[in-house]
Amino acid sequence: MFESLSMAPPDPILGLNEAFRKDTNPRKINLSVGVCKDSQGSTPILASVKEAEQRLLVNETNKSYLPIEGSANYGKFVRELLFGAGHEILASSRATTAQTPGGTGALRVAADLIKRKLPVGKVWFSKPTWDNHLNVFASAGLAVDSYAYIDAAGQGLDFAALTAALEAIPRGDAICLHAGCHNPTGIDPTPEQWQQIADIVHDRGLLPIVDFAYQGFGVGIDEDAAGLRQLARPGKELLVCSSFSKNFGLYNERVGALTMVAPTAAAADAALSHAKVCIRVNYSNPPCHGAAIVSTVLGDMALRAQWESEVAEMRQRISGMRRLFVDTMKRKAPSRDFSFISRQRGMFSFSGLTPLQVDELRTKHGIYVVVNGGRINVAGMTEGNMEQLCDAITAVIGSAEGRRRMAEGLSPLSGWELPAILVERHVCGG
Ligand code: LMR
Repeated sequence: MFESLSMAPPDPILGLNEAFRKDTNPRKINLSVGVCKDSQGSTPILASVKEAEQRLLVNETNKSYLPIEGSANYGKFVRELLFGAGHEILASSRATTAQTPGGTGALRVAADLIKRKLPVGKVWFSKPTWDNHLNVFASAGLAVDSYAYIDAAGQGLDFAALTAALEAIPRGDAICLHAGCHNPTGIDPTPEQWQQIADIVHDRGLLPIVDFAYQGFGVGIDEDAAGLRQLARPGKELLVCSSFSKNFGLYNERVGALTMVAPTAAAADAALSHAKVCIRVNYSNPPCHGAAIVSTVLGDMALRAQWESEVAEMRQRISGMRRLFVDTMKRKAPSRDFSFISRQRGMFSFSGLTPLQVDELRTKHGIYVVVNGGRINVAGMTEGNMEQLCDAITAVIGSAEGRRRMAEGLSPLSGWELPAILVERHVCGG
């Protein structure tokens, strides 16, 4: 049977990582997958995480299975981080949490739960969105569609188009919102805009699915939850898919959570019971180690303070790289304005480089960025690779091919398509 198979297309993000590893160019730079680098270009383990691991090594007494929904203690820490200690949702116990293998695991459990139990017509995503979103939800058998998000230049939010699109979503559908540090654009609504978004979402009875993968990478740990907390209104329902891959640097430990907020404690318990059915038939129960690290850090005042300062350090480094990139590009390509990059937040920016330019960047210069909008992982830039990176970008936007693409007036979304075969079957309008 396998002999009849041709190769599946590589993943648009993780496939680039594989290609990068095979590339023998000694000057190659990886700005594709969202991993945070330090000024030396490495991804060290956070000191708070190392300390927690040492404590776990000494204190752990067994390796038996976790419950299907994972550790209850971890769930409590997740909810406190999301909503803030003392929030009405916590006081009324109307949220339950399942520990999941990464944020992607949370998204898939959410998708399975919706498909199995909720009367949702379609799930709506910003255009553009993370490359994997549509496939995760379509793989669960859900219909997916997109709503307007960025402006025509691809540099800011088109708030009027966004609100008009939200108003047009049929009542009772689900909508995926990025809590902050939007992936792939780095373009976020302001707190005032979040308030209006939450008004529309709840007025129309839409089910918000909040993807929260970068808490602390925008403005601060609490500040970054502002949009989520706007949506978390009395009596309202929502799903939150969160991840500690980035803010704890626990990429390969796969630590995430699905939090279900319901109008009552009994309804939240019922939601969790169905999420457990979805989990049991998928991966049975979650891995322990990463979540144990998170619980150890968040449960100890000193470790928590250390972690918060490590998150602040990562955030400040990313902002510094944004400024350095803008300044370096100003020097190298003064006719092209990249100042919008320093107004964006989090790890990613939508550079607006076209697919051909992205290809030229990789093949001629050994620089890997994601095709979708020319997404650049700003957190992978360093003082050491900035000159080389900006020289290469200057070369590709100035090359004959680059000029032709710009003259064609291709939109920044030209590299963004609804992905792959699965989505074709489920997406509205084919
Ligand atoms: C990314 O967008 O690069 C990260 O979220 C990693 C991934 O799984 O795609």
